[in-house]
Parts: sequence; C-alpha cells; structure tokens
Amino acid sequence: MLNQVLYISVILMLSLGSHALPVKVSKGACPKNMTAVGDLNMKKYVGIWYPQLTYPLYLKAMPKCVKYNVTKSTGNKYLIRRSDIDSKSGKVRRRSTLILRVDRKGGKYTIKTNKSPHGFNIFVLDTDYKTYSIQYGCIELGGIINIVYVIIMTRDRFPSSEVIQRTQKLAKLSGIDQKTMVPILQNGCPIDV
Ligand SMILES: *[C@@H]1O[C@H](CO)[C@@H](O)[C@H](O)[C@H]1NC(C)=O
Ligand SMILES: *[C@@H]1O[C@H](CO)[C@@H](O)[C@H](O)[C@H]1NC(C)=O
Repeated sequence: MLNQVLYISVILMLSLGSHALPVKVSKGACPKNMTAVGDLNMKKYVGIWYPQLTYPLYLKAMPKCVKYNVTKSTGNKYLIRRSDIDSKSGKVRRRSTLILRVDRKGGKYTIKTNKSPHGFNIFVLDTDYKTYSIQYGCIELGGIINIVYVIIMTRDRFPSSEVIQRTQKLAKLSGIDQKTMVPILQNGCPIDV
C-alpha cells in the first residue's frame, strides 16, 4: 500500500510540474472540515512572505532561503515570485507562478501549474496579513488517498519564537497536523534571495 501511495504521489507531483510541493500523503479523502479565511484580501496579502514550516519533500532535499514575493501583475492578476537556494548545488533559483483566480469569499487562490489545466487551489486558512499566514491545499485520488500541502509562513525572515508558537497554535486550531513538519532554513541567506 505504502509503495503504491508513494508511486501515485510522485506521479501527482510530476503532474504539478516544477511545483514540487512538500506534502503529506494519507489514506482517505481530503478532510471536509477545513475552513479558510472568509474574506481573502489580496491587496493586503501582497508582499514578502518567508515559508518557515512545511511537510518534507519526497525524494528531494528541502531548499533553503525560500522567499515568496506576491505581487500585482497586469490585468488585475497576481503573481508569486519565488526564490530559493537548492541545498545540494547551492544555486539560487527564481521562478514566477501566475495566480489564475482569486476567490475572495472562498479564502483561496488558484495557481497555474505546468500540467494541470485547472490549476491548484491554495486556501489561506488563517492570516493577519502582517505577521503570519497558514496556506493549505489538498488533492485526492478517488477518495483513496489524499495529498496535503501546507506552508506556514511569516512576514519576517526571523520571526520571534513567540510569533512561531502563536502561529503553530493557530495552525493547530485550523486542523493542521504538524507532527511531520520540518523547518525551512532561513539563515545565512544572501541579501537578494
Ligand atoms: C517584490 O516584487 C516587486 C514587484 O516586482 C518588486 O518591486 C520588489 O522589489 C520585490 N521585493 C523584493 C524584496 O524582492
Ligand atoms: C476535522 O475532523 C477531524 C476528524 O474528525 C478532526 O480530527 C479535526 O480536528 C477536525 N478539524 C477541524 C479544523 O475541525
């Protein structure tokens, strides 16, 4: 069963193209009781975010110095500029992801992926816009397995432990299982990454 789950999740991750996402694979359908923010305000959500905690990546080392820059693009669209450092090669990588749609009331936005035509829904479960954000996505395969993606991120590259603790508490309240989460290394990063 586990091999099969792993196999399917690798296929799914490939189908997300360059968006190799750190995920948690479980049996059963996606949880039905997750609730996102009721009014996602992208104008306030733009700017720099530093991912701090996430699930591990399968078969790949977690990049470090991960930074998202959510920016307004042309035609009322938004773009996520992502930079990070490949922990194996030490190379800086930069790429942009287009946000196809924003569903303000649904508390979610949809990112463009290489191969999935409908994109991938990312829910903002909780944010105060100025300190922290908890992002969540889930794909399920026929109700047999579900693949959960979570990023806990902060506005500061080095948030205080108080901010981290408070955010982790909020993530728990949002129903996020943090047992297998790993930190994203944010120290020793070049100034422009
Ligand atoms: C974020 O993106 C905007 C728009 O491209 C740019 O002006 C700004 O300098 C970027 N910020 C950082 C810290 O990279
Ligand atoms: C959702 O339901 C599961 C299973 O009943 C429960 O463990 C979890 O705490 C619930 N999450 C939320 C956010 O209510």
